[in-house]
Amino acid sequence: MFRQVTYISTARQPGPSLLADIERSAMRRNGALDLTGVLLFDGVRFLQVIEGPAEAMEPMLARIADDDRHFGMVMLRDVMVEARGFGGWAMLCKRVSEDQHGLLDLLRPLMRDADRTTRALFESFAEIRSAKAA
Ligand SMILES: Cc1cc2nc3c(=O)[nH]c(=O)nc-3n(C[C@H](O)[C@H](O)[C@H](O)COP(=O)(O)O)c2cc1C
Repeated sequence: MFRQVTYISTARQPGPSLLADIERSAMRRNGALDLTGVLLFDGVRFLQVIEGPAEAMEPMLARIADDDRHFGMVMLRDVMVEARGFGGWAMLCKRVSEDQHGLLDLLRPLMRDADRTTRALFESFAEIRSAKAA
């Protein structure tokens, strides 16, 4: 069983290298800890799904929560799952646009192995962004 956590948060100071910097840490640390997931950033908000062995998740969540590059973390989901939804990536980091169609096209392949609730969360993230862009 794996613990799978999904949350959204807001970037404190979005800069051009923000996502790449996070990705660099995630590649190194998640790989070593057997954590996997996806991190979407639309220029304002993050949506992350992170999953892995429960004992590795706790300290990583604390580390992420402590990171002052973002704030206002809202837990959307925290469940134990039999199989990973995003097993293929240590952390797939994607900058997404506010265009909902583009976003949903991007998310579709990522959602292939994800369960219904996770899919619904991704879809509503896309909708919120497109409503804001309108
Ligand atoms: C939204 C967000 C998501 C993050 N996700 C991860 C992650 O999946 N793995 C990780 O190691 N660090 C992640 N970080 C970075 C950590 O908070 C922390 O900066 C990093 O683990 C420090 O590692 P380093 O000293 O090796 O660079 C994330 C940060 C933010 C703001």
